[in-house]
Amino acid sequence: MASFLLDPGVIFLNHGSFGATPVEILAVQQDLRERMEREPVDFLVRQLPGLLAAARERAARFVGARPQDLVFVPNATAGVGAVLRSLALRPGDELLTTNHRYNAVFQAMRREAGRAGARVLEARIPWPVQDPAALSQAVLAGIGPRTRLLVVDQITSPTGLILPVEDIVAGARARGVAVLVDGAHAPGQVDLDLARLGADWWVGNLHKWVCAPKGAALLWTAPEHQGQARPPVTSHGADLGYHPEFDWPGTFDPTAWLAAPAAMDLHEAEGGPALRAAHHALVQAGRLLLSEALARPLPHPDDPRLYGSMAAISVGLPASQALALHTALWTQHRIEVPVSPFEDEAVLRISGFALYNRPEDYEALAAVLPGCVAALQVRG
Ligand SMILES: Cc1ncc(COP(=O)(O)O)c(C=O)c1O
Repeated sequence: MASFLLDPGVIFLNHGSFGATPVEILAVQQDLRERMEREPVDFLVRQLPGLLAAARERAARFVGARPQDLVFVPNATAGVGAVLRSLALRPGDELLTTNHRYNAVFQAMRREAGRAGARVLEARIPWPVQDPAALSQAVLAGIGPRTRLLVVDQITSPTGLILPVEDIVAGARARGVAVLVDGAHAPGQVDLDLARLGADWWVGNLHKWVCAPKGAALLWTAPEHQGQARPPVTSHGADLGYHPEFDWPGTFDPTAWLAAPAAMDLHEAEGGPALRAAHHALVQAGRLLLSEALARPLPHPDDPRLYGSMAAISVGLPASQALALHTALWTQHRIEVPVSPFEDEAVLRISGFALYNRPEDYEALAAVLPGCVAALQVRG
């Protein structure tokens, strides 16, 4: 079974933010680093193209894509930035996202839109929500005659909701709108079949739920857009095609990308879908405990179409106290769990990673959470 360097003195309920990499995978990365340092020129110039092609082939199998449609990027933020830079936006164009979007992605959209005289709009997704169909309807209702691009999360960051991206992509494309699926949390949390999804672009992190070393993510681009694809930085591969554009971003450490296949192998050896189901079972039980402890309702029914390895609950504090609760849980109880401002509420999100989380982790949180919330309510 995989082992982790996680501090045993911390109750770690935030796999979602940055993942955690097993020691076995760190060892693979370290071997690659030592190979690189024995002969940097040979490694980076002669060996890297073949190693990268092999890693891309493995990644393509993992996400249900063709290798020619995939490139590695350091993270989802870089992938989203690349897509936004590839668009020729015009004044008056609209970029659409949702109110559950990730802030860094929203900022990139805002800046890119601002440069072109375009603007960013948010479709409002219901939360609490009962049914996945309500989610796709809400997103598609935001599309207007000027919408050029929809950026939609496959799994939302503050609320851990799985969005029905297959229906959303089909609906948007039927309305003539291009779609970037932000799948930052998707690899290793939900089944992927990118070729079937039929989006225009998709980005996904490997350093979250696949547990690759940090700095490993994928960008998938539909063939018709690959000629316009612009990487995060312009380098030797400029205008030489999709893969050359991205494969050499300047001198860098490619070992996170090259170690990612070992992380995919480990994910599958640990059960693949069964591992993901075990993550879900932890979260399913954990969110019930929190709901009982806080005497607050859960935001959606127990439907695996709506959440996977993360789940959120509104704790009964205003958004302005999210950081204070997060800090109290960490400093007073050594519990690492994100609490985000979402709309006007403070929302706590638990993760479940079956290779190191145990039911007791959620019991520990449920035992102290009501007290922490009450203390902040008193302070106002
Ligand atoms: C929906 C979403 N998009 C993008 C990102 C950014 O990921 P990264 O920091 O790896 O670029 C995150 C990170 O949690 C996310 O949740």
